Amino acid sequence: MFVDSKEYSTDVRDILHSSGKAQSALHEQAGRLRDAHFGKKIFIRGVVEASNYCRQNCNYCGMRRDNKDLNRYRLSLETLLDLVLHHRPSSITDINIQAGEDPIVVREVVIPLVKEIKRQTSLGISVCLGTLSNREYIELRQAGAEYYILKIESGDEAHYRHIQAPGTLARRVEAIKHLATTGWKVSSGLIIGLPDQTEDHILRTLELLSHLPLAGWSVSPFIAGDQTPFGSHQNGNLEQTLNSLVAMRLMHPDRIIPAVSAMGIVGQNGYTRAIRAGANLATINLTPPEMRENYLLYKRDRLIMNEQRVLKSIEEAGCQPSRTSLAQYLAETQLTTKVA
Ligand code: 5AD
Repeated sequence: MFVDSKEYSTDVRDILHSSGKAQSALHEQAGRLRDAHFGKKIFIRGVVEASNYCRQNCNYCGMRRDNKDLNRYRLSLETLLDLVLHHRPSSITDINIQAGEDPIVVREVVIPLVKEIKRQTSLGISVCLGTLSNREYIELRQAGAEYYILKIESGDEAHYRHIQAPGTLARRVEAIKHLATTGWKVSSGLIIGLPDQTEDHILRTLELLSHLPLAGWSVSPFIAGDQTPFGSHQNGNLEQTLNSLVAMRLMHPDRIIPAVSAMGIVGQNGYTRAIRAGANLATINLTPPEMRENYLLYKRDRLIMNEQRVLKSIEEAGCQPSRTSLAQYLAETQLTTKVA
């Protein structure tokens, strides 16, 4: 697999292995490519975690249905609307509504919430709610949500089964294509350092994601999660994660790539280095602290990115917050990727 850009043609495998001076040069190159396509502007979204009920049973995630030791919650429409309308930092231009795979919260809370946010603000709306029915996708889109985040985590079929990611890889990929052809801008992504993941798995995953009709993609290091079957494994490696991000920026200079808080858990400065290396989206957590601890993606003591931390990282990376929302930007930009 090769990356082609005007100044560059490098094997992705070499990028993943890069270290020292060669690595610094690649990271700077990726940062410049982001600058060329987006300027030094970083989109800032707020995330609310509406429910931690989940019907999936992923081996890496603390919200898996077999985790009986988790206090499950659903936030009310009033609570969420109050958070978004009255308690969001001014730097936020978009809201990401996230939950375990919980169709009940989608129907009862998220769809009405999206409508109200659209009625009362100019915020863009992203959702990360898992695989739902076509009817739910349509209702969310009609309510005004624009960006659907549906990760594949691993693009190797056998490995996908091994980690017990949702459904099958083939169905996940079909869902991504379906969303992209029904009016959504779609983001997907992978986790680096999952148990028993090989370098070939990572390359295959990047290749698969590269050919999907995506407006954005993400990479997160694996964090060995509390109360999960993978809890005793090693965390993912920060350098490999950042190198993947660099490869992703070089492969698709025009895609949205987030910096994720897990990067700040597995190493010093991970979040700022991600922005330097070409990420262009940051996330501020708006979930109330007493609920947040039960939104168990991996650890109870996860690194919470508040506005101050996010703005500091953006500044340290030599960038500025975007005043254009992600949704507005995407609406004005035509997707160039062909459906595989
Ligand atoms: N390590 C890293 N990321 C994880 N997620 C869930 N569990 C883990 C983990 N153990 C990520 C997945 C999911 C997102 C919401 O959190 O990418 O899509």
